[in-house]
Amino acid sequence: MILHSIPIKKIGVYTSGGDAPGMNAAIRSVVRSALARNLEVVGFQSGYYGLLEKKFTPLMARSVANIIQRGGTFLKTGRCPEFQKPEQRKIAAENIRELGIDGLICVGGDGSFRGARALWLEHKIPVMGIPGTIDNDIFGTDLTIGFDTAVNTALDAIDKIRDTAASHDRLFIVEVMGRNSGLIASHCGLAGGAEEVFTPDIPVTVEKAVEKIRQGLVSGKSSSILIAAEGQKPGRAYDLAEQIRKKTGLEAKVCILGHQQRGGSPTASDRILASRMGWYAVEALLRGETDSMVAIQGSQLVSVPLEKALSQEKPSPRELLHLTQVLSH
Ligand code: ADP
Ligand code: F6P
Repeated sequence: MILHSIPIKKIGVYTSGGDAPGMNAAIRSVVRSALARNLEVVGFQSGYYGLLEKKFTPLMARSVANIIQRGGTFLKTGRCPEFQKPEQRKIAAENIRELGIDGLICVGGDGSFRGARALWLEHKIPVMGIPGTIDNDIFGTDLTIGFDTAVNTALDAIDKIRDTAASHDRLFIVEVMGRNSGLIASHCGLAGGAEEVFTPDIPVTVEKAVEKIRQGLVSGKSSSILIAAEGQKPGRAYDLAEQIRKKTGLEAKVCILGHQQRGGSPTASDRILASRMGWYAVEALLRGETDSMVAIQGSQLVSVPLEKALSQEKPSPRELLHLTQVLSH
């Protein structure tokens, strides 16, 4: 456990990186958990821009009313490349001190956590991270806020595509988000009854997918759904479709789900996770913890050092991918 010795009376909270459904529920929980412990809270706007430009708002219980069910983040978020420069972080640290803020809670993904970590290491500002990203790509926590909603949003679309695929006897490739991670893809693959899932880290050859489609045709399947994680190249589903056409003459329709996966009302699971994590982060700062993120392992909330969380990639779950194969014959 990494500890600080600063008495915490006033905290700042911000959302950073890609937005994720449930971020509002996390802010609400941070604010109300902090107020319950007689702390003052301010919310910084637009991620690290808020810290650099002193764009903030004091947050009271009523400031976070009626947001638990809303997607996005009412504090707004941002990708702020300037924050990667130490001299810019020094300005942010000076602003934080000037505002009398004793600790920060960062809701975001791995990039955002790198920024938070730098504030602790370089300026000794206590920080706690709350993992909020639809990608679920943070090592050390089973889940991140937003993942469950994003998977369900994608699944809803996949179910609809299945209707039209079956009616026309068509092959579809559905591309889902996740950047370098195959987590959204592998969960959608199993839950959506897909024939094959292309992830960035566990290679599946087009030949293998084609063979699977052929076997399906022989056994009487008239439509198939393949799921592709966007990987480093959003739009790669078009390349896959072209390769399949060249090898088989089959036309694959492509559907790229895109940013709709980031929006919408958070699921019950995400709201509960966000509420629990928000509370835990406040309590952890009060206990003297820093340089860590809240994680869920099984059903337990724990603190994981940011260094550890940032040290590894979270792999695609082989078991889910295997089961998708077994169940799609
Ligand atoms: P996410 O947090 O979802 O992974 P990004 O990778 O875009 O999203 O990171 C969000 C923000 O975190 C960046 O725009 C930048 O402000 C900050 N950040 C990312 N990497 C670093 C880093 N190495 N050092 C300091 N700040 C960083
Ligand atoms: O990290 C969340 C995420 O939605 C990724 O799945 C996706 O690759 C990326 O953000 C898209 O980022 P942007 O909002 O900059 O288009």
